[in-house]
Amino acid sequence: MATDSPQEAQSAEGDATTAEDATEAPIAPYPPNCGPPTLHIVHQMRDPLAFAERALATRDVVRLHQFGQGDIYGVGHPEHAKRVLLTDREKFRKSADFRIAFGEGLLTVEGEEWAQQRDVLQPLFTRDSVLGYADGMVEQVRRRIDRWNDGDRLELQAEFTDLALDVLFATVLGRELALDGDRELRESAEHLHGWFKPTSYFLPEWVPTPARRRFRAAKERIRTEADRLLDEAAEGAPTDPSEAEDLLSLLVGLRESGMADSAMLTDERLRDQMVTFLFAGHDTSTTTLTFACWALANNPELRERFHAEVDELDGPPTLADVDDLEVTERLVTETLRLYPPVHSLPREPTTDVVFDGYRIPANEQLLVAIRHIHRDSRFFDDPKEFRPSRWDGDLQSELHDFAYAPFGGGPRICIGRQFALLEAQLALATIGRQYDLHWLGENDADGEPPVSAEMTLRMEPGQEFLVTER
Ligand code: HEM
Repeated sequence: MATDSPQEAQSAEGDATTAEDATEAPIAPYPPNCGPPTLHIVHQMRDPLAFAERALATRDVVRLHQFGQGDIYGVGHPEHAKRVLLTDREKFRKSADFRIAFGEGLLTVEGEEWAQQRDVLQPLFTRDSVLGYADGMVEQVRRRIDRWNDGDRLELQAEFTDLALDVLFATVLGRELALDGDRELRESAEHLHGWFKPTSYFLPEWVPTPARRRFRAAKERIRTEADRLLDEAAEGAPTDPSEAEDLLSLLVGLRESGMADSAMLTDERLRDQMVTFLFAGHDTSTTTLTFACWALANNPELRERFHAEVDELDGPPTLADVDDLEVTERLVTETLRLYPPVHSLPREPTTDVVFDGYRIPANEQLLVAIRHIHRDSRFFDDPKEFRPSRWDGDLQSELHDFAYAPFGGGPRICIGRQFALLEAQLALATIGRQYDLHWLGENDADGEPPVSAEMTLRMEPGQEFLVTER
């Protein structure tokens, strides 16, 4: 919490500062409760979430030391998030690491290039467009869960990784994966996260850690698959790109018809785009489903209401049911609050910037602490309690517009959010009609599940659920 800024009057409510002011402001200090800066890295590698939580408990802007790599700054107030993502966004760029990892896809490019890519891709991801994927999503979920048996013990994070890839490929990429096959491709998608392993993160880019080697091999494997899919898409590309039903045929159709800037649609760019969507679009959904199931298993009263809702349906959920799945929708909303898959958003200020009277120098690494903001008692009552009913009333409209931001915010808000929300709702309802999932893992003293935080949050490996048929 912000209590001891040097200019107390400069609350998070407003400290737009001129360049001259910025150079005079003191650099954000190391938090007093986090031990000597040389040891920060040890705490960060051991438990990055707890360490960020501890640091940001002292004030809303902090500096942490990364031995050998300089400092990293964190901001933890919705108003700060708003400045970085919306009002002052031209003063912040995406961190260089993203571009090194993913090239020139939508997640990484900036400026005019980003605006053009976003314009071209947006039509595939509007609410209306993604509703067209509903049946395909349910079909993919049923295909996979029909193989579950009463008494199975499942590591849901792994199971849902496969499921999220099934759904993403069958819908956005227009190719159905083999249920038990395509292992190499599935593993490659998984290894894309290797670039952001905490053990690699603090090392210069040229150090070939095992995770980075796996990352590079994975990226090559996916680019080869992209070439195959691009060839296929070129054969069947619609002459009118607005008729395209998936990402690749849209992009190839635009290129063939000459309707979009050709520099944006070279094979190289399209490969980058595919790697980007695979990275951004599967792990986040996996984590949402896993933690939603954990929440159901740990809250009997919620589970009862959820089952009552999905049992009302005439059969597996369809598009027509989506608006009636209110309990399921709030379950997803609350899951994304307490366990936001993208727990913090990395940026680099292009000029010195000032938050709460403290300076963050240009070109340093900055993290917007989304998970921390979601758990702040200034914005949420009993913030650590999993309580979907908090969303029943007007909370959404009363909140600061960046106090709940699991999909980021401003113009670069997640392009896949409508897709992800629909997928989560339909998958949970489909599963809930058929099975009960019982948590076999151990929660910690605060009732929290074992979580690991790399680029995205995940359930720690080895955590199982027992499946029972309903
Ligand atoms: C629950 C699931 C998801 C969560 C929590 C999530 C979260 C986010 C967040 C926080 C951002 C902003 C990143 C930043 O500002 O640095 C983002 C961007 C993005 N997401 Fe998602 N995402 C999810 C699902 C998806 C899906 C399913 C897709 C694709 C089908 C997708 C594709 C993207 C892309 C391409 C961007 C970059 C957008 C841009 O910069 O214009 N995401 N996502």
